[in-house]
Amino acid sequence: MNKKLIFSGVQPTGEIHIGNYLGAISQFVDNQDNYESIYSIVDLHAITVWQDPKIIQSQIHHVLSVFIAAGLNYEKNIIFNQSSVPQHAELAWLLGCTARIGWLNRMTQFKDKAGKNRENASVGLYTYPVLMAADILLYKATHVPVGDDQKQHLELARDIAHKFNVDYEIDFFPLPEPVMNKNTRIMSLRDGTKKMSKSDTSSYSRILMTDNNDDIKTKIKKSKTDSMKMPSIDSALDERPEISNLLNIFSAASGESKEDVIKKFAEREISEFKSDLTDVLINLIEPMSSEIKRLIADKSFLNEVLKKGSDRAKSLSTVTISELHKLMGLKIL
Ligand code: TYM
Repeated sequence: MNKKLIFSGVQPTGEIHIGNYLGAISQFVDNQDNYESIYSIVDLHAITVWQDPKIIQSQIHHVLSVFIAAGLNYEKNIIFNQSSVPQHAELAWLLGCTARIGWLNRMTQFKDKAGKNRENASVGLYTYPVLMAADILLYKATHVPVGDDQKQHLELARDIAHKFNVDYEIDFFPLPEPVMNKNTRIMSLRDGTKKMSKSDTSSYSRILMTDNNDDIKTKIKKSKTDSMKMPSIDSALDERPEISNLLNIFSAASGESKEDVIKKFAEREISEFKSDLTDVLINLIEPMSSEIKRLIADKSFLNEVLKKGSDRAKSLSTVTISELHKLMGLKIL
């Protein structure tokens, strides 16, 4: 029914780390020749938790600089910040009338983020997955590259699209498919059972795309491990989450399969592995980090990219919204 179209989003909160890069942004770049693609810097999602108005614009510029430095083609792809296309918020309302409360109650990310004090979390944090569904469905996207922490939200987007199609007896929205890399749930460098996250209080838990070589060296050196030698088989990793995570990072950052990396370092000292991992990460990050620093200084160029992207996104999304108005019997004039 629809041609293949990618949509994905990244929140402008905190600095982009290698989890975001290896789990999502590198896939945006890898897929850009095969699909029409739309990438949004999702500021409306960011404000579900309070953000300082004085810094949010620079966070948006930061994410855009990472996209471009990573190799995302800003002329071919549509790249924009979400709040500049108000149709996202409108569709979120329309779809909020299709989504069921029971479905939202199952979202584990809300439970994790709201914590014990759920009554005090914002309504936006609770309905966040409906806005995410709206982001994707506004463009009738068919494929969504994301890290595996977003899988449940994507299943919800499919459920909403399906129920909408059934309720209005029309094949209006395609059911979007996740696009995920193997083994790229990147975990904290301080705790192999916890996701690497922008909001972790320890800066040693994550490697940033703007880290310099010394930062990378120190963070890998200090990363939590055990005192055994490197494993020689995959099954030995079940009890060693930190080593498993570092092997995943090595594999994703170098492009070598995890099996090959395990073989290469089998029975060797962890310190030798860490030293090679540092080199792999420096090779990956050094060119990008200097490009990010160059781009971030050129605000007028970055704003021009966002303006062009939002104009293109707006013209696509107004078509979907007027189709919906007609279909749902809304708007007389
Ligand atoms: P956000 O901003 O938290 O993360 C951006 C992308 O990075 C991935 N990611 C990770 N991947 C692997 N390991 C990690 N430790 C890791 N941490 C983050 C995320 O899975 C994501 O792909 N809700 C989304 C943003 C969003 C969106 C959308 C995505 C809003 N609307 C529509 C896709 C389609 C989020 O909070 O991503």
